[in-house]
Amino acid sequence: MKKDLGVAAAVYPMPVLMVAAYDENEKVNVMNVAWGQIADDDKIILFIGEGKKTWLNILSSKAFTVALADKDHMDVADFFGIASGNRIDDKFERTGYHAVKSDKVNAPIIEEFPVVMECELLEHLKDEYVSAIVGKIVNVKADEKVLDEKGKVDVAKTNALIFDQFRSGYYVTGEKAGQAWNAGKDINLRK
Ligand SMILES: Cc1cc2nc3c(=O)[nH]c(=O)nc-3n(C[C@H](O)[C@H](O)[C@H](O)COP(=O)(O)O)c2cc1C
Repeated sequence: MKKDLGVAAAVYPMPVLMVAAYDENEKVNVMNVAWGQIADDDKIILFIGEGKKTWLNILSSKAFTVALADKDHMDVADFFGIASGNRIDDKFERTGYHAVKSDKVNAPIIEEFPVVMECELLEHLKDEYVSAIVGKIVNVKADEKVLDEKGKVDVAKTNALIFDQFRSGYYVTGEKAGQAWNAGKDINLRK
């Protein structure tokens, strides 16, 4: 018997995305974003609160990077979700992490995170209900240590964090349960 839980954001897993952008003086800022998703194959949509430092930076620089946070860097990833560059001028510097400028877009790449998407701002989508940053993914970079023998990202090697919005936990999993577009192929769909 199922219990009613009321209105809840009942999607799991959610990603733990490290969104980085420059301000007008190329100062690096990074925030933690769980409410984000891929649209089509080459676009990303991020639901970022208006006025947050990263939101302001993306609108002014027209670019950003999105990295997958991993277990080894969970404390800093969480810090990026607690502290704001609007209030702490040296938010990024306090972590001791390292940033390099992307060779593809006008945005910083945080070296410590293993997989990063380099994105150009396509649009700030706003209507009565949503405010979203829509970006075009122009390239992805990944540390060699998280690639398989075919050069694809092996998620088990990334130790990427997963966000649980029911109880605000960070999880990590590398257990593969099956293969998509394959696990259901033996069920006869025609009656
Ligand atoms: C796990 C986690 C997920 C978060 N997801 C989002 C999100 O999707 N959108 C958002 O606007 N803020 C989100 N936040 C809060 C921001 O990261 C936080 O407001 C941060 O201080 C913004 O930094 P900034 O002002 O330096 O850009 C999240 C925080 C945590 C801890």
